[in-house]
Amino acid sequence: MKTQVLPVNEESLRLAKRIILGGGVVGMPTETVYGLGANAFDTQAVESVFKIKGRPNDNPLIVHVHKDYDITELVSEVPDYAVALAKAFLPGPLTMVYNSKNLVSPAVSCGLSTLAVRIPSHEGAQAFLKCIGLPIAAPSANVSKHVSPTSAEHVRRDLDGKIELILDGGKCSGGIESTVLDCTGEVPVILRSGLITREMIAAVAGECLEYTYKEGARALSPGMKYKHYSPNCRTMLFCYADRRAALSAYNAEREKGVKAYMLCDGRTAAELGVENVLSLGETEAQAAEKLYSALREGEECAELIIAVAPEKQDGVMVGVMNRLKKACS
Ligand code: TXA
Ligand code: MG
Repeated sequence: MKTQVLPVNEESLRLAKRIILGGGVVGMPTETVYGLGANAFDTQAVESVFKIKGRPNDNPLIVHVHKDYDITELVSEVPDYAVALAKAFLPGPLTMVYNSKNLVSPAVSCGLSTLAVRIPSHEGAQAFLKCIGLPIAAPSANVSKHVSPTSAEHVRRDLDGKIELILDGGKCSGGIESTVLDCTGEVPVILRSGLITREMIAAVAGECLEYTYKEGARALSPGMKYKHYSPNCRTMLFCYADRRAALSAYNAEREKGVKAYMLCDGRTAAELGVENVLSLGETEAQAAEKLYSALREGEECAELIIAVAPEKQDGVMVGVMNRLKKACS
């Protein structure tokens, strides 16, 4: 199969619609990472998403809808705090989990009684969802366990020849996946951290809990138990306080002839004076935006990525650290 990469416009959207209605899948931009979309009502199409990615079949997908879509068609029991959160943050990088009305294919939620719903803010994603007019089930458009894609080129590298069309909406401005929030209880619970932080949610909902997955336990959000975000090269991760030890490791590896690169923020790179840098920029928003592209750039040029965790560990950095730990595990 030949994979076309086309800018989002009337013509490419017409083609996208034809593919989706025909039971196919399309690579689509969002403000967080690129998605691999299929008609959420079409079980075969949803199953093919799992197959194309090599995704374990107990890890449910998020349904993406246009901003004018009435989500109560798909889910029931939307609590007041969720209405307030939707008003504050949607369209945007917040996925909300509700009790499902079981109208979409059971393959979307892998048989769970809940459904994760997301309204992306990306203009290209909105145009795509409007043009299709159906809920679109979409995981990130990477091969399972690999680094998530933040450009159409990243999607092409993982899925060339496996899908017909990638809609190119430019580089993702967010850079890490949406916050996944369980809205089925009295208090919202973060299942996956992201750009909409616990502090931001608590400021609107009054309270917000954060679920932490413990090895071996039944995962509330099945994605948590899987290896994720891994570049195709060796990795090491040091905490910020140990950045000098990271520098020693970097120097020792380079002396052995290993192509080692340091992944860290710009200030730390300057302080350590390293030559081979995969920079996470200066701010927490930049760290999120650059993380996956830095990991992908790293696997192209490095044999070893030595990551130094950011000094700041709250807010958006919770989500960045969560991915960095998994990438380097
Ligand atoms: O930003 C994003 O969320 C991107 C873009 C494409 O929208 N999508 C994304 O999808 O990251 P994916 O499939 O890579 O991650 C979906 C996460 C997984 O951790 C999954 O376990 C969780 O959402 N999830 C999906 N449905 C769920 C449900 N019903 N209950 C709990 N967790 C759910
Ligand atoms: Mg993913």
